[in-house]
Amino acid sequence: MELLKNKIIEEGKVLSDTVLKVDSFLNHQVDPKLMKQVGEEFANKFKSAGITKILTIESSGIAPATMTGLELDVPVVFARKRKSLTLTDHLYSAEVYSFTKKTSNEISVSKDFLHEDDIVLVMDDFLANGQAALGLLEIAKQAKTTVIGVGIVIEKGFQFGGKQLRDKGIRVESLAIVESMSDGKVTFKEEARI
Ligand code: G4P
Ligand code: NA
Ligand code: NA
Repeated sequence: MELLKNKIIEEGKVLSDTVLKVDSFLNHQVDPKLMKQVGEEFANKFKSAGITKILTIESSGIAPATMTGLELDVPVVFARKRKSLTLTDHLYSAEVYSFTKKTSNEISVSKDFLHEDDIVLVMDDFLANGQAALGLLEIAKQAKTTVIGVGIVIEKGFQFGGKQLRDKGIRVESLAIVESMSDGKVTFKEEARI
């Protein structure tokens, strides 16, 4: 997605060889016009899949997932990172290990919002080591839903999450795949398929 790649080049800050800061349009401030186009791109890629629900994780997955849900006309459910004080036995939950923070967190979704007949698109803002996506897939599995794929705004192609998911046979669509960030310069993986 050219607009997204240009935005990453213009506004992204390479904090290290592995961390890309995109606070001005995705992780802190949100660019609604860009997110609208992100939603259109995902809706195009997945429109014939019969999706009934989008599953993402708070907080930065919510904006791109909501715009995709708007385009596909389906609800968006986001997993919570903090346990709700009520209804604790009425939850699907999974452990998510963060390689960045070296901590493990439980994420959860109420049983009210995922059902056996749901056809689910899992989404997130970033794909690094894939732990968040795996946690969401685990929750989708507990709910006995059908997952048709994973939609990612920015994939870091040099970390192992994308390979791990694709090796499982999961369809992963990323709108930008960062191949390298060495010397402070972002380079993208060329589109593999037309
Ligand atoms: P993983 O899920 O792929 O294994 O990623 P990891 O644990 O390493 O990352 C933890 C958090 O950092 C996640 O957000 C993830 O989306 C984000 N992240 C990973 N790499 C980058 C990066 O290079 N740049 C940015 N901006 N974010 C990155 P989170 O803690 O759940 O935060 P949020 O969704 O509330 O923003
Ligand atoms: Na995220
Ligand atoms: Na994030």
